[in-house]
Amino acid sequence: MNNTLLLSRIVQVVIAGLFIMVIITPACSSDSEDEIAPDCNLADVSYSETIAPIMAASCNSCHSGASPQFGINTSNYEGLRVIALSGQLVGSVNHNEGYSPMPQGQPQLDECLREQIAAWVDDGAPEN
Ligand code: HEC
Repeated sequence: MNNTLLLSRIVQVVIAGLFIMVIITPACSSDSEDEIAPDCNLADVSYSETIAPIMAASCNSCHSGASPQFGINTSNYEGLRVIALSGQLVGSVNHNEGYSPMPQGQPQLDECLREQIAAWVDDGAPEN
């Protein structure tokens, strides 16, 4: 076997190896994305259709009315916007360090709901 033949043999083996990697890699690397529930709709999140109902179900019992807890009103857009833009909304529902975990005394909101809240806040907390 002369040197040229040996070299072309090596090149063939390397190319075959790369080809196999390209085929195998995508199958192995998909797990990082299933942090978000697969059927969680983050595409058209709106205040009126998505966020207000979450607040009504889990937050307004304490954060509405004449003297809402902590002076925070989650039952209307103006009140919610304040804690959305301050970071308190996402911090408290995600139980991040430095925030009181919400809803108080109840299980943490489902991951999809928390993702939807975060998506709305990231969008600038629009009144839509
Ligand atoms: C059972 C009553 C209750 C419910 C339900 C509740 N909260 Fe609270 N929340 C409180 C009280 C009391 C405080 C003030 C004391 C404290 O921080 O623990 C508070 C404080 C907060 C704060 C300020 C926390 C901080 O660290 O800045 C935010 C934001 C908040 N709530 C958001 C929410 C949201 C959003 C929900 C619904 C997912 C919710 N709360 C549900 C009682 C409640």
